[in-house]
Amino acid sequence: MTSPVLVTGARGTVGSGVVAGLRAAGVAVRAAGRDPEQLEVPDDVARVRLDLADPTSFGPALDGVRAVFCYVTGELDGFAAAAARAGVEHVVLLSSESVLTETDPVPGGLAAHHADAEVALRGAGLPTTALRPGAFDRNTFQWWSGIQAGVVELPYPHASTSPIDERDIADVAVAALLGPPADESPHLTGPESMTFAEQVGIVATHLGRAVEVRDEGPTAARQRMTAFVPGPVVDSLLRYWAEFADGPAPITTEVAERTGHPGRSYASWVADTL
Ligand SMILES: NC(=O)c1ccc[n+]([C@@H]2O[C@H](COP(=O)([O-])OP(=O)(O)OC[C@H]3O[C@@H](n4cnc5c(N)ncnc54)[C@H](OP(=O)(O)O)[C@@H]3O)[C@@H](O)[C@H]2O)c1
Repeated sequence: MTSPVLVTGARGTVGSGVVAGLRAAGVAVRAAGRDPEQLEVPDDVARVRLDLADPTSFGPALDGVRAVFCYVTGELDGFAAAAARAGVEHVVLLSSESVLTETDPVPGGLAAHHADAEVALRGAGLPTTALRPGAFDRNTFQWWSGIQAGVVELPYPHASTSPIDERDIADVAVAALLGPPADESPHLTGPESMTFAEQVGIVATHLGRAVEVRDEGPTAARQRMTAFVPGPVVDSLLRYWAEFADGPAPITTEVAERTGHPGRSYASWVADTL
């Protein structure tokens, strides 16, 4: 059997898709979680405990591994050094578009968090495919209580993103893990730019429900969001949305080029998921 690919966060939305895609391609997978008992993986997939904040878990998880799919969960320097020592040849990192779009990074914000992880892996000499996706389709669930109540309040309802289906991110990750080690940072987007209000409209139509979208303004949004998201991350998000408040968000062709299939539309995510 060939050396396995270690998938961190194997029960995560993207991570679970990476496990499934590698397995479908016949690749040996080692699925990792902070509590491996909670992983729902087929019997032929090995499980291992890995906490990226606990260096004692790195050695057993990395032993004999040739490539890693990795989440950004905090400081990655120790894990990067351990992976290099273990002979890992390629890391596919789930980074973020914020590294590109946040031109004046907020300390402790989204871009800094992801950029630090990219630097940690490359600084350890690991060839790294840093996937930089924009807003996930799944972020729809952040509006869920508002959708249920019939009113979604947003700071920039007419800001645009190019929402990407998490399955497409997993497909790109799998393609990268199946290919030769590379050092690259593809910017991944969905196939169309749309406003948040347009997204809510698609959901409302699908559910057959009337949902009003209200502009709450950035000050009220900051207050609301800092109750459950760290302040610097909220500031990153508000700046990002403000930047695309008046125009379309960028669209790239990376998903289609790397997977051989077009990026899934937001409407198809809604139809398949809700
Ligand atoms: N949402 C967006 O619009 C967006 C845009 C760009 C980039 N991103 C990136 O994508 C990530 C979210 O991806 P997702 O939706 O697939 O995530 P998810 O479903 O929330 O899963 C996150 C995974 O991270 C793992 N994890 C958390 N802390 C860990 C630790 N200390 N050690 C090891 N594993 C740990 C968890 O594993 P266990 O709990 O099983 O241990 C879990 O499986 C974000 O965090 C961000 O970095 C998101």
